[in-house]
Amino acid sequence: MMPSLTCGDVMRKALVAGAFVLAAHSPVAQAANDDAAEALAKAGGCFKCHSVEKAKKAPSYKRIAQKYKDKADAEATLIKHLSSSKSVKVEDGGDEQHEPPPAKDAADLKNLVQWILSRG
Ligand code: HEC
Repeated sequence: MMPSLTCGDVMRKALVAGAFVLAAHSPVAQAANDDAAEALAKAGGCFKCHSVEKAKKAPSYKRIAQKYKDKADAEATLIKHLSSSKSVKVEDGGDEQHEPPPAKDAADLKNLVQWILSRG
């Protein structure tokens, strides 16, 4: 009983370590950091108007990603959009201020933009 348990334990640890190494070296690790992006979007109140899949008061992030799909300057345009406060027309007709999210630095904001652009 004991030897096989110990063996299973070692195997499990090896598998976990292997999976970690794979994840760290896969191209996916270089894509947007989803957790950080979603946390920033939450902190910025973005989900009051936007959702990933469905249109709410504002276009979904999926639609925005599709709109910018083939645009070379997509990232720069959206970083600019999210760097200043401006008035936008919401779906129900009113005007509301589009406020920048509380990004801790430029990389944090860029990560959010990359996350939005990869929803399409
Ligand atoms: C008060 C509602 C509201 C909130 C809150 C809001 N947005 Fe928006 N957003 C809009 C509307 C409406 C549009 C579409 C109008 C436009 O593009 O001018 C828009 C457009 C966008 C676009 C696309 C711009 C473009 O050029 O097509 C992005 C990206 C975006 N929002 C991200 C965010 C993020 C990130 C947050 C949180 C920091 C946020 N929004 C918070 C209403 C909102």
